[in-house]
Amino acid sequence: MGKHVSRRGFMGGMAAAVGYLSTRPSAELWAQGGPAAVAAQRARGRMTPEQYDRMAKLANNENNFGPPDSVMKAMNAAWKYVGRYGYPDGDIVQVIADHHGVKPENILLGAGSGEILDVVGTTYLLGGKKAIGCDPSYGSVYQHATAIKADSIRVPLKADHNLDTSKMIELANQRASEIGFYYLCNPNNPTGLIVPKQEVKAIVENLPKGMPILIDEAYHHFVNTADYETAIPYVLEGRPVIVARTFSKIAGLAAMRLGYAVAPREIIQQMRPFAMNSINVLVKHGGVASIKDAAAQADVKNKIITQRTKTTNELKAYGYDVIPSETNFFMVHLGRQVQPVIEEFRQREVLVGRPFPPMLEHLRVSIGTPEEMDRFMVAFKQIFPAKTRQTNVAGQ
Ligand SMILES: Cc1ncc(COP(=O)(O)O)c(C=O)c1O
Repeated sequence: MGKHVSRRGFMGGMAAAVGYLSTRPSAELWAQGGPAAVAAQRARGRMTPEQYDRMAKLANNENNFGPPDSVMKAMNAAWKYVGRYGYPDGDIVQVIADHHGVKPENILLGAGSGEILDVVGTTYLLGGKKAIGCDPSYGSVYQHATAIKADSIRVPLKADHNLDTSKMIELANQRASEIGFYYLCNPNNPTGLIVPKQEVKAIVENLPKGMPILIDEAYHHFVNTADYETAIPYVLEGRPVIVARTFSKIAGLAAMRLGYAVAPREIIQQMRPFAMNSINVLVKHGGVASIKDAAAQADVKNKIITQRTKTTNELKAYGYDVIPSETNFFMVHLGRQVQPVIEEFRQREVLVGRPFPPMLEHLRVSIGTPEEMDRFMVAFKQIFPAKTRQTNVAGQ
């Protein structure tokens, strides 16, 4: 889900997260602020603000714990600049660059990492090129390609829900002249699974020379396994790698819109003309505070993993298989179609993720507060009977 400011704006339009974006004409998607905005509006539905507030919001992979005090304090101190064009911006670009050991010329800010994904699309797909990636993944990349009259090559996930990276490398080489860039969402949304570092290495080393590789690390901060590694070192090696990061998840700033790309200088220069350069002063200060507050980031990670472990253990004990996630969301296998289930949850004031074809018997659940996760489990047990588990293989 989501990228544009309107994504988080309160719009209404509860078609209960049921429609598929691909059925919407691209002009309409464009006019409404992009496909992710449409999806979020539908997911949120026609609710009054009071109804929205009452909902357990487990649909959009937000951070329901909210920004930490240090971030709120920094943003509040920046209100005095809101009437300005030129103002002290907390040196946000330098702070991000220092954090990753790169130079400011390697950083491009976006209004959320969603803007970065769009900018990559516009930079490398215009003229009808294709993005190659897995399916399902973060669909916004493919929807943006369609919207700008470009296209995508989507390689289905394997039966175990992992990426078929060998197949993707093979296709990228076979069809190199058609492809504008390679998209890798790591960890992947909606499955929550990582792409192991050895596979990322194989991708970087075996794609056609110079093919840009967009590695979307929106959920980087929640990963807890040594098999995973950020791709930023490849940028330092001068590979054509663009890493996208966001403050929407770990920092709890989704509605404030801040993300960035880390990439080689030449790539940033190619992308910069397509960026809106419209980041607000409050979030620049909030972003700086978030990067500097490692303890607050660790606290959020810990809370999310605690809730995720508790809820997924309860689901497994109740007889339902869960894909082992490394993110702030997970997928549970329902054994029946997800679409009507989403509505059943909504009636119990719990918002859950939309369908992710072709995984139409899986439900994506974002991790919320302890109270929200309790409400989710109560609703789940009302909607689904306890089962004797047939398998204990993740997600089967
Ligand atoms: C994989 C992935 N990438 C990017 C984004 C965009 O997030 P934002 O634009 O809020 O940074 C999301 C949002 O849910 C996401 O799941």
